[in-house]
Amino acid sequence: MVLSADWGHEMTPRITTFNEFRDAVSGYRLPRVLLAGLELDLFTTVGERSWTIAELAKVLHVSERGLAILCRNLAMAGVLQKKGATYKNSRLGATALNANHPAYRGSYLDLIKSHWMDWLRLLESVRSGLPIDHDVPDSPDYRRRFTWAMHHRTLETAPAIAAQVNVRQAKTFLDLGGGPGTYAMAFLAKNPQLRATVCDREAALDVAQEIAATHRAGRRLSYLPLDFTRTSIPGTYDVIWYSNVLHIYSPADNQVIFKRALAALNPGGRLIVQDAFLHDREGLFPAEASLFAVSMLLFTEGGNTYSAAEISKWLKDTGFGRVKVLRVKKGSEDWEDGILEAVAPGSRPKMIARRTRSKGSSRAR
Ligand SMILES: C[S@@+](CC[C@H](N)C(=O)[O-])C[C@H]1O[C@@H](n2cnc3c(N)ncnc32)[C@H](O)[C@@H]1O
Repeated sequence: MVLSADWGHEMTPRITTFNEFRDAVSGYRLPRVLLAGLELDLFTTVGERSWTIAELAKVLHVSERGLAILCRNLAMAGVLQKKGATYKNSRLGATALNANHPAYRGSYLDLIKSHWMDWLRLLESVRSGLPIDHDVPDSPDYRRRFTWAMHHRTLETAPAIAAQVNVRQAKTFLDLGGGPGTYAMAFLAKNPQLRATVCDREAALDVAQEIAATHRAGRRLSYLPLDFTRTSIPGTYDVIWYSNVLHIYSPADNQVIFKRALAALNPGGRLIVQDAFLHDREGLFPAEASLFAVSMLLFTEGGNTYSAAEISKWLKDTGFGRVKVLRVKKGSEDWEDGILEAVAPGSRPKMIARRTRSKGSSRAR
């Protein structure tokens, strides 16, 4: 298997021969090596300096032989740099993977690490159709850790998206299921006229409040603790941003949420849905969207990934008017072509995105 920057696609080749099957199954090897590096907290220990294997093995309390082979592979993958007999961090290793650096993304790395063990239990969910820990209630502690993980996941993506999705005509913005409010903060930072509300569970909103307190624009953010599957959404908004929540719920649940969102939109207001959309007729691609459905099987009661066409139909059945897929610059997206906009009935023509280019409604079959 060839390593490339396009690693996600390399992981999911179209398999026709036995050798391709073997290579695809062997795809666990590099992830296991990378996770072993994280589990040793190796990038933090390596920090800013160069190390021989003997020095590093002593500090990490591991064997020299084991570490030599691990580090060689981490260097092969690009996360360490090897020069002769010494190793040092790559830029990524020294920053996002290093607990002593301000750019460390520890909460998201912890979530990724825990997924390895969760995915080992896939057959349990395939057999039962239930999430692996379906009997474990959502605790505030888990919600807090998950919310920080979401912040560490999107802190680069959110400003890139906010720079491309035009909400300049909007005054009020609801980040529905906004978790840490990273997206709400990014839209606030980009749009000085905007006031935003982040709606989520209490424990998630505590994290959002801590993050907002470190930004000037955070003063324009307010908080709405609510379970939107149980109650209607108070207030009215020009834009409702529903990002990475749709996949948690079944089609029927999403349609109930869409109805509540529509009732909370001003005339001509917009519901903007960001998620992993399937693009092809058979609902197989992009691979990332199909694989993400496996996560939803493992972690949710009824979640899945859906095509833009299905979602458009639900939106129209709910009473929304025009639905279109929004295009953002390649490489800056959260998901490939994963933003869809639905406009509430009522005339407010200036509300429609001008700067964001539309692919037209043909894509949303
Ligand atoms: C995967 S996170 C996405 C966070 C953020 N919107 C983003 O795009 O990064 C899903 C968020 O939706 C929230 N959520 C899911 N169902 C909810 C419900 N019924 N009521 C309130 N919040 C909910 C979760 O607590 C979580 O913060």
